[in-house]
Amino acid sequence: MIILGIETSCDDTSIAILKIENRKLKILSNVVSSQVKLHAQYGGVYPFLAKREHQKNLPLVFNKALKKAGFKISNSQSPNYKNKIDLIAVTFGPGLEPCLWQGINFAKELAEKLNLKIVPVNHLEAHIFANWLSSLGKNFNFQSSIFKKNILPAICLIVSGGHTQLVLMKDIGKYKILGETRDDAAGECLDKTARILGLGYPGGPIIAKKAKEVKNKKLKIEIVLPRPMIHHQNYDFSFSGLKTAVLYNFKSHSLKERKSKEYILAMAKEIQQAIIDVLIAKTLRATKEYKVKSIILGGGVSANEELRKQFQLKIKNLKPKINFLAPKKEFCTDNAAMTALTSYFHQKEAKTPKKVEVNANLRL
Ligand code: KG4
Ligand code: ZN
Repeated sequence: MIILGIETSCDDTSIAILKIENRKLKILSNVVSSQVKLHAQYGGVYPFLAKREHQKNLPLVFNKALKKAGFKISNSQSPNYKNKIDLIAVTFGPGLEPCLWQGINFAKELAEKLNLKIVPVNHLEAHIFANWLSSLGKNFNFQSSIFKKNILPAICLIVSGGHTQLVLMKDIGKYKILGETRDDAAGECLDKTARILGLGYPGGPIIAKKAKEVKNKKLKIEIVLPRPMIHHQNYDFSFSGLKTAVLYNFKSHSLKERKSKEYILAMAKEIQQAIIDVLIAKTLRATKEYKVKSIILGGGVSANEELRKQFQLKIKNLKPKINFLAPKKEFCTDNAAMTALTSYFHQKEAKTPKKVEVNANLRL
């Protein structure tokens, strides 16, 4: 079957076309149009600006995705993708409401034209399923007892710009939120602290790059930031205090000091490490308490190399052995391939276009 996925929950406009046949998965196209440059000047995402961009980008991204997948679009009355697409998947939440509506309205129009149903997809579940986009061309029978026997139950750590959640995954579609952030998400903290330091947007990749530069250097400056809630006996997070600590530290230095390369590098390394320490400590505690077989990462922050490396080091000698899954980097941040794949497992929830609506505060 061929699934067309649409994702517009935040500041990326994405459309993907997947082919799933004989339990083999092929990504025919996965076009992501990023609005990073637009939002960089404001240091964050402005929903109504993002909505306008989605509106502008969707038809362009759609044509690009069709072309890449090998479909011709010359005849608009009877395009040759008409009878080839079997299902439309669209993110219906959580996310920025005006942005989500753009994707949904585009999906509705297309579904009406092609006489297809729509599977509304939970963006957080899609971040988990991004892990299986890497099993391209391989058998990926999730329903098989082997998958369940080897991988589940699992602890999923969803870390993105909008969310930080620890989730117990018992089965496909069966999730229990163990804890989540009480204020800023981990990615949001990276974005906001990068802004304080004048490093640009999005903060995660820039802070990661600066932190990496420290590797073979001995810095004269030592900065110690808090690890919020690391010892709390629950699975909640809080990153806004970390951001405030960065701001106070920044203000306590002279203009010259805080603009120095040494200061920026030391700060980047410590911000990244503080976040990693908290994420790993809480995830490992949940792993032990719930006696799971796997740790599954997802979301933009899971692209962080240091986070992955330190996770792998920490679980290397655990007994019983724990599987560690993280999506390929290109599938960590928002993309429609993960949306399309998730819909494959929720085909029973397919709806007529009229019935599809946004749920901006949707939970797992
Ligand atoms: O999942 P995502 O694309 O969008 C949301 O659903 O929020 O995540 C975006 C977030 C941003 O906060 C960005 O700074 C962060 O992911 N991010 C990273 C890295 N790449 C993106 N954080 C740390 N290290 C990275 N390499
Ligand atoms: Zn996301």
